[in-house]
Amino acid sequence: MENLLPKARPIEFHPLKLAKKQELTKSTFALEFEIPSALSSQYHFEAGQYVTLQFPVNGKVVEKDFSMTSAPYEEKITLGIKISSEESFANSLFKDLKTGDFIEVSEPRGRFTLSSKPHEFRTIVGFAGGIGITPILSHFKNILHTEPRTRLFLFYGNKNKKQVAFKNELEELANQHPDRLEIHYFYSQEKVGNGLFEGRLNEKKVALIINQILQLDDTDEESTIWDAVDEVLICGKGEMIKSVANACYRHGIRKKNIHFELFEEFNEDIYPVEKEFPLLENIEVGFKLFNKEYKTTLKDNKMRLLQQLLIQKFPVPYSCKSGICGSCECVLEEGQVELLENEYLTEKEEASGKILACMSIVLSKNIKVNFDLM
Ligand code: FES
Repeated sequence: MENLLPKARPIEFHPLKLAKKQELTKSTFALEFEIPSALSSQYHFEAGQYVTLQFPVNGKVVEKDFSMTSAPYEEKITLGIKISSEESFANSLFKDLKTGDFIEVSEPRGRFTLSSKPHEFRTIVGFAGGIGITPILSHFKNILHTEPRTRLFLFYGNKNKKQVAFKNELEELANQHPDRLEIHYFYSQEKVGNGLFEGRLNEKKVALIINQILQLDDTDEESTIWDAVDEVLICGKGEMIKSVANACYRHGIRKKNIHFELFEEFNEDIYPVEKEFPLLENIEVGFKLFNKEYKTTLKDNKMRLLQQLLIQKFPVPYSCKSGICGSCECVLEEGQVELLENEYLTEKEEASGKILACMSIVLSKNIKVNFDLM
């Protein structure tokens, strides 16, 4: 279940054996790890989660997070990885890691998850940009396997046809489930003879998709497919997520039904702050995380607390950045904040001093929060 994971916990690693390494495109590859039966409970996961890999690069052990493409019923961990440059961690993994090698893999975590509803007829839409396909592939496989009546639409953007990772696996799924899975590919740097499928996945493109693809619904002739959408999954670069999430929101999907996960640094809030607040500068912040005390100064209170701490590279927990998942839950021990939106905390929890860092604007010159809730 989505909300049962602890809010913040140290990462546990175990050595796992690489069962398979496969080149997918010129710049992407897949790794498949076996889960030994002795570790099956530690590696129990939900669709959409990720693991962290530890690997030595130039004599130094580096850690990076990668989303899983496997679904829980497959009982293995498969990752899709993009090589961004010759010097990257991904390139070292691709060059140096051999089938049969053991490497340190963290236990799965992450909140880019959905509650399973096997008895419902749901409509779920996925928007993926490039290697952002990975957690969406995990979700789609899982839903096709566990929810016999749910239908899925995937809008998958890449620079050109050669860069489409996991194309074979996706096509196989679409062939196996022709009445439940529809996939549309978009290319930002290749002409395909139809303007709808050329260009980036952004706000404008989402409007075109709604009007030209998600039109009248066979199952309900009174309304459109878009009207029936229950959940939206988005994964890609920060700009793409921001643009597509805002487009979905403006076209009537509630924020709590728009799910995304940001891996890269993205120094903006996804949804704009719509209220104005008195400007405060040089705010002193103290916080506790994993039993460690931190102190820092925020330049001002223009951005939400979580975003400011992330910009300063503190390892604060987060996932949705929209007041929905609870990952950034903490207790306000001193000072004052305004909680812009909250779809997670109960009234009682709010009254007891709990806040969501991703939705908090600081309203006092000093604040103290505690992320160690366990
Ligand atoms: S990150 Fe999800 S509620 Fe704050």
